Amino acid sequence: MTCTAILTRFRERLEHLLGLVFPEGHQSLLEEVLRRRCGRRSQESYLAELETTYDPEEIAKLASELTVGETLFFRHSAQLQTFLQLAVPQRLKARQSLRRLSILSVGCSSGEEPYSLAMLLRQNFALQDWNVQILGVDVNRKALATARRGIYSNWSVREAPELLLKRWFHPKADQFQLDKNILEAVQFEERNLNLANHDLWLSGRWDVIFCRNMLMYFAFDKARQLVSNFARSLSDGGYLFLGPADNLRGISEDFTLHYRDESFYYQLKSPDSGPPAAQAAPARRIPSAPVPRPVQPTGLRTDLLKDLLESERYAQALELLESLPASAERSLWKASVLVNSGKLEAAEQLCQTLLHQPQTEAGAHLLLGLCRREVGELGAARGYFEQAARLDGQLALARVYSGMVLRRLGLSALARTHLRQALTLLEKESEQRLLLFGGGYRRSAWFSLCQSELERCPKP
Ligand SMILES: C[S@@+](CC[C@H](N)C(=O)[O-])C[C@H]1O[C@@H](n2cnc3c(N)ncnc32)[C@H](O)[C@@H]1O
Repeated sequence: MTCTAILTRFRERLEHLLGLVFPEGHQSLLEEVLRRRCGRRSQESYLAELETTYDPEEIAKLASELTVGETLFFRHSAQLQTFLQLAVPQRLKARQSLRRLSILSVGCSSGEEPYSLAMLLRQNFALQDWNVQILGVDVNRKALATARRGIYSNWSVREAPELLLKRWFHPKADQFQLDKNILEAVQFEERNLNLANHDLWLSGRWDVIFCRNMLMYFAFDKARQLVSNFARSLSDGGYLFLGPADNLRGISEDFTLHYRDESFYYQLKSPDSGPPAAQAAPARRIPSAPVPRPVQPTGLRTDLLKDLLESERYAQALELLESLPASAERSLWKASVLVNSGKLEAAEQLCQTLLHQPQTEAGAHLLLGLCRREVGELGAARGYFEQAARLDGQLALARVYSGMVLRRLGLSALARTHLRQALTLLEKESEQRLLLFGGGYRRSAWFSLCQSELERCPKP
């Protein structure tokens, strides 16, 4: 058993070296990796070395053990449609005289994302006389080796459109070998995005940057640094695509957020779009802390509340909350109890007052979604749930509810994305938030629900 002080040092070092945050729930993984990496050395001497030297070999090994590389071809397809129908045509127009198009896939893992982009470009545009660069970067050496090999399982291509599967993949035993033309269209580089990487971020270098499903693992200040590099290196009007659980709230004001179909994207503000509001009030431009999470109102006994919710004694739960000092958080808990007890009108009124307060904004959206869902307005419910998920990328139940509603709306691919995301987020979601937004059901019940929802999503 590793002592807490050693683990804390290891965790802090990992954040410093890789930019990644490992929440409490990852203790056993960290213990295991630390034990393996120490080998015969003492933990003390291993950590001392990690704290004083930057050894790229060691970083590569740590990254291969600790990073989450989950990915697939044509992931988040609605976003790829935006890339295809909007971003590429606009960038080709902007780059007409140079005839150069540059696309960066940050945190590309085993290559499925940049290869998907290459296939979409090949399939839809005649770019023979263009200089097209697609670069995938990642710190995980093993994942990059897989990318360069280009052999993938059935599982990796499960969402690939039939036409593209037939055109660009060659069956090889029970796997698929990517076509040489696509392999050659993408370069890969091993990069730790937590380092300066000056050459990657030269001014105006990129037309489009994909950084999906990586920022959510980054420490807040590291994410802010990385996104400022994106802003510096994108050309005017360049596009940034983030994963569904990522957002730029509090991280950057250099981008405009747009919604299109079932996805969102960011576009770099042009220099002549006027000074950002923050220039008049610099203190607000880069808040020094992440978006606040709803916290427990002073004096709240969550154990008592849990008992009351589980036994559906809502009037008593409201009484308990009334006895606490007034605060936005207390109102959010009250709204949650009102939703659970079916008092939707009162819940919605209360939520409206909480929509513009940072610590309750995401939660209020989620509860409004539940109210709309209750009266059968699935489209409106979906809007609220998705907004809650965007406002707070770690809010597991926003993903669960989005996934459920999307499935009922027949949007299976999107539903699956949300439900899989939910399964990851549920692992680290706090008990308190599960109670606040989940009406007293246990974590295991939410896992089972997500699994069964996933099984009920028709395969494409
Ligand atoms: C979940 S995968 C995302 C793959 C792909 N972008 C997608 O959305 O399907 C996250 C990737 O970020 C990479 N990553 C995490 N920390 C990194 C760092 N400091 N530098 C470079 N890559 C990093 C991981 O190695 C992993 O491959």
